[in-house]
Amino acid sequence: MGAGKTTGARAAAAALGVRALDTDRELEQRLGTTIEDYFASHGERAFREAEEDLVAEVLEAPPAPVISLGGGSIGSSRVRELLAKHTVVMLDVDEDTAWRRAGGKRRPLARDRERFAALHAERAPLYESLADAVLLDGGAETVRRAAGALREIPAGVKVLWAVAGTAQYPVYVGDVLDGRWRPVAGRTFAITDETVARLHALPGAEATLTMPPGEAAKTLATAERLLRELAAAGMAHDDHVAAVGGGVVGDVAGFCAAVYQRGVGVVQVPTTLVAQVDSAYGGKTGVDLPEGKNYVGAYHQPRAVLADPRTLATLPEPELAAGWAEVVKTALIAGGPLWARVRRGDAAVDRDLVLACARTKLAVVATDERDSGRRQVLNLGHTVGHAIETATAYARYRHGEAVGLGLLAALTLSGQPELRGEVAELLAARGLPTALDPAVDHDAVLAAVQRDKKRRSGRVGFVIVEAPGDVRTGVPVAEGDVRAALEGLR
Ligand SMILES: NC(=O)c1ccc[n+]([C@@H]2O[C@H](COP(=O)([O-])OP(=O)(O)OC[C@H]3O[C@@H](n4cnc5c(N)ncnc54)[C@H](O)[C@@H]3O)[C@@H](O)[C@H]2O)c1
Repeated sequence: MGAGKTTGARAAAAALGVRALDTDRELEQRLGTTIEDYFASHGERAFREAEEDLVAEVLEAPPAPVISLGGGSIGSSRVRELLAKHTVVMLDVDEDTAWRRAGGKRRPLARDRERFAALHAERAPLYESLADAVLLDGGAETVRRAAGALREIPAGVKVLWAVAGTAQYPVYVGDVLDGRWRPVAGRTFAITDETVARLHALPGAEATLTMPPGEAAKTLATAERLLRELAAAGMAHDDHVAAVGGGVVGDVAGFCAAVYQRGVGVVQVPTTLVAQVDSAYGGKTGVDLPEGKNYVGAYHQPRAVLADPRTLATLPEPELAAGWAEVVKTALIAGGPLWARVRRGDAAVDRDLVLACARTKLAVVATDERDSGRRQVLNLGHTVGHAIETATAYARYRHGEAVGLGLLAALTLSGQPELRGEVAELLAARGLPTALDPAVDHDAVLAAVQRDKKRRSGRVGFVIVEAPGDVRTGVPVAEGDVRAALEGLR
């Protein structure tokens, strides 16, 4: 209720040049009265039976290619089974917005706020499990832009439709690297690292350029070499780069795409857990300077993201563990079912986990593409984490390992000893460090914290956790407290 299904279906149908049908309106015509009146005179059960019959009929032999379904119709197992042969699109809407649009009106199930909230929470997992595609912003304009892509979703793949500023793009999660299917037109110039090149080729690329693996290669020198190789290979403005690899490749290749001929498209094809749950989304690209991590870069939203969790099968265990630190970070930001899953110790890395993490990040980016506010929650654990990486010349810790340590410092600064203890256990269970190498110079880490890119007006704002799902940004912290948090990493 209140998600905008009727308007969305009309917008999709208009974009595709076909007809839309709304099962609620159709039902009212059949019943010869409004849903509200039928509900009142016959009760919910009779209404649900009539609804089930009509929706089943429509799904068996669709009279129109785009159908908006009554919100409660998926309560019927018969309807759910019939949906299997259709593409199901979910318009994501938070409960507040839905209530603002639908609440307090004549709709029988939207009169009481508490009942409405309970229904929203109860139906959400059902919608999610049925959806082939989730539109993070379900406005009519978004639906119109997404409609073409939603027409072709390969089997075994789910789609998140991301919105960031004026950019919109599909994120495909699942068996995406089967065959030669590519969602973006034009020639593909793949950039990968030498390790990934041996394991996961992207079929159909015009040329494949490689860089050395690892953070040490995330430099302007590497970017310059790749840019010159792209030029030598004849890449033109309507071609695109595909970044096939972990976060390092994604950042460097994305940066090359951002600046090559003042910007060409990039498709992110993440092959590490860090990249699939975090770095491939949101459009931050760049390289490191000796003075600071990610000090040079550009926002450059991808044209599409292709995340295939099967590529993680070749990932060495320590890299998988490093990705887990980002999963824990994301779960702390999301709270709810994702945090519940992570704290249960469920270590499976599957399509649902990647989807849940990607969705959390994309929902944040949708509200603040350029880090001016809400997006800073994504830096949870990163202020100290990045400083540790910088102070150790990017050589001692993997990014994810440093983020794990940064998370523990952030939880100390948040005054959350119990949660810190729990997170330390979750990290340790994956073999991640929970103590800082005694050889690391705390003064160097503190100096790097002071140079943090997120510093504004001379102050570094920290990201603080009030509770899982409740994360605050820009909290000033005294240097002595940061030092104490570092000393606590023992
Ligand atoms: N842009 C963003 O929003 C963002 C967010 C988080 C992290 N990052 C960046 O991401 C980087 C870290 O990413 P990462 O942890 O993926 O590191 P990475 O790219 O260095 O990959 C880690 C290692 O795994 C190897 N590898 C990659 N895929 C593999 C596979 N499928 N099988 C076997 N080996 C494979 C790589 O060759 C590399 O040696 C950091 O530079 C960080 O700053 C960026």
